[in-house]
Amino acid sequence: MPKVLIADKLPDSTVNMLVEAGLEVVNRPGLKPHDLKQAVRDVEGVIVRSGVQLTADILAGADRLRAICRAGVGVDNVDLPAATRKGVVVMNTPGANTISTAEHTFALILALSRNVGPAYISMREGKWDRKRFVGVELAGTTLGIVGLGRIGQAVAARALAFGMKVICHDPFIARDVAARLGVRLADSLEDVLKVSDYVTVHVPGFIIAISRSPISP
Ligand SMILES: NC(=O)c1ccc[n+]([C@@H]2O[C@H](COP(=O)([O-])OP(=O)(O)OC[C@H]3O[C@@H](n4cnc5c(N)ncnc54)[C@H](O)[C@@H]3O)[C@@H](O)[C@H]2O)c1
Repeated sequence: MPKVLIADKLPDSTVNMLVEAGLEVVNRPGLKPHDLKQAVRDVEGVIVRSGVQLTADILAGADRLRAICRAGVGVDNVDLPAATRKGVVVMNTPGANTISTAEHTFALILALSRNVGPAYISMREGKWDRKRFVGVELAGTTLGIVGLGRIGQAVAARALAFGMKVICHDPFIARDVAARLGVRLADSLEDVLKVSDYVTVHVPGFIIAISRSPISP
């Protein structure tokens, strides 16, 4: 029976799923590098999220290891060349956080538009300064999306539902993808920045939402 080390905290439902699938599960999140190094030697599979670094040093003696699964989008915390040298397959779950990330983007955009953070602090100080924190409506404003991949597209769909205009920059995406979504594909990043009230970036290695501040509290 293949043995799998869960090296980061995973929900009980996921652990049960693996057990029910007939795997021998070693659930040891939070191991220090020395113990992790020992633990990976004794398993065929390792599952990580983002709390564990599977470096070349950690993988050095892992001769039984066949597969590493990153329960998340990127594989930045796995030394891919080291894993490949050992013939270990590295997998991820690319779509897992798409909706959550798109929704979180809107949490940030709405919080910026309605000054939720500063208004909360002000109210905790016992003030009731409604006018100062009114902010702006999203409807009719323009959202610039840099990177029209899985997350960018989910953000675009939500922006359209809010009545926003959407302009995107993604040099690697086909025009018909943008057309199908009902968004404009700009030729350059500069074109996006020129017309956008909000810009949200969803390219590898960079996730951020910024806006022109609606007011200066
Ligand atoms: N922080 C988080 O919680 C979290 C969660 C999920 C994803 N992410 C990260 O968000 C990023 C995007 O995720 P995704 O699932 O949408 O990926 P994806 O691969 O589906 O989309 C990325 C898009 O970026 C485009 N792109 C690449 N370089 C670009 C550039 N220079 N200019 C404009 N566009 C460019 C690609 O063509 C692609 O369409 C990934 O790097 C991922 O690691 C972070």
